[in-house]
Amino acid sequence: MKIISNVNELRNEIKALKTSKGGTVGLVPTMGALHQGHISLVKKARQQNEIVIVSVFVNPTQFGPNEDYDKYPRTLEEDAKLCEEENVDFLFAPSPRDIYDEYYFKNKETTLICPPYDVVNKLCGKSRPGHFDGVCTIVAKLFNITKCDRAYFGKKDAQQLFIIQKMVKDLNFDIEIIGCPIVREADNLAMSSRNTYLDDSARADALNISKALFCAKELFDKGVKDSAILIDTALAVAKNIEVEYAEIVSMNTFEKVDTIENKALMLIAARVNSNGSMVRLIDNIEL
Ligand code: PAF
Repeated sequence: MKIISNVNELRNEIKALKTSKGGTVGLVPTMGALHQGHISLVKKARQQNEIVIVSVFVNPTQFGPNEDYDKYPRTLEEDAKLCEEENVDFLFAPSPRDIYDEYYFKNKETTLICPPYDVVNKLCGKSRPGHFDGVCTIVAKLFNITKCDRAYFGKKDAQQLFIIQKMVKDLNFDIEIIGCPIVREADNLAMSSRNTYLDDSARADALNISKALFCAKELFDKGVKDSAILIDTALAVAKNIEVEYAEIVSMNTFEKVDTIENKALMLIAARVNSNGSMVRLIDNIEL
């Protein structure tokens, strides 16, 4: 596995490997601090492509001014070991200066991809203005840099996956987007790089997020299709956490549904107190 930080070097290496090996290129975009959720994406990419690239880049344009950009876990050495074990061909780990130009560092602005207002300014986007513009921008840049055929994203970030699928359709990227199932710890906590922020008591509180979702799902499976009832049931379980939103949306449109008739998603974002600082976590379940 080659670890590369420079865009042109990566482009040349991909070109050379494509010429000698042929086949398709699979990209797994990440911000590092890799866990088994990420590894499940890498495994899927490895099954489906001759060439696999994992990118590790904590992307500044998707963080708000008061968010955790500076303290976001950076564990490149461990990430590289995990990728090596999965036979990844290239680990692309650029610095912000490899990705953004001088203008950006001077003016804190770059060319952005801005999905429609209503799609990005609800759910996670409501408390994170500009977040999905930053995500789409870096993902599009990674698509252009790697010229990948397929790209792999986790379903835990369901709104992100929906928005990226829309961007790919709207901008005619010739790339197949593969959404992969949420990977959970044995006690059902959804795997997340931000789980490393949780102390023992915060981790116990965080379990109430998945508990709330699974309770609602149990009721749904018994025949309850009314979103308000399902959300109230979930909220009753969501103890010791600050729920930012609990919503049920259509899987096709990501619009709120009052009564579940077709495939829907229940999503929760909540803040958990870990030693005085609030850790924001998200999770969801298919209904
Ligand atoms: O899901 C993430 O880790 C990031 O949002 C992504 C897709 C790698 C873009 O920075």
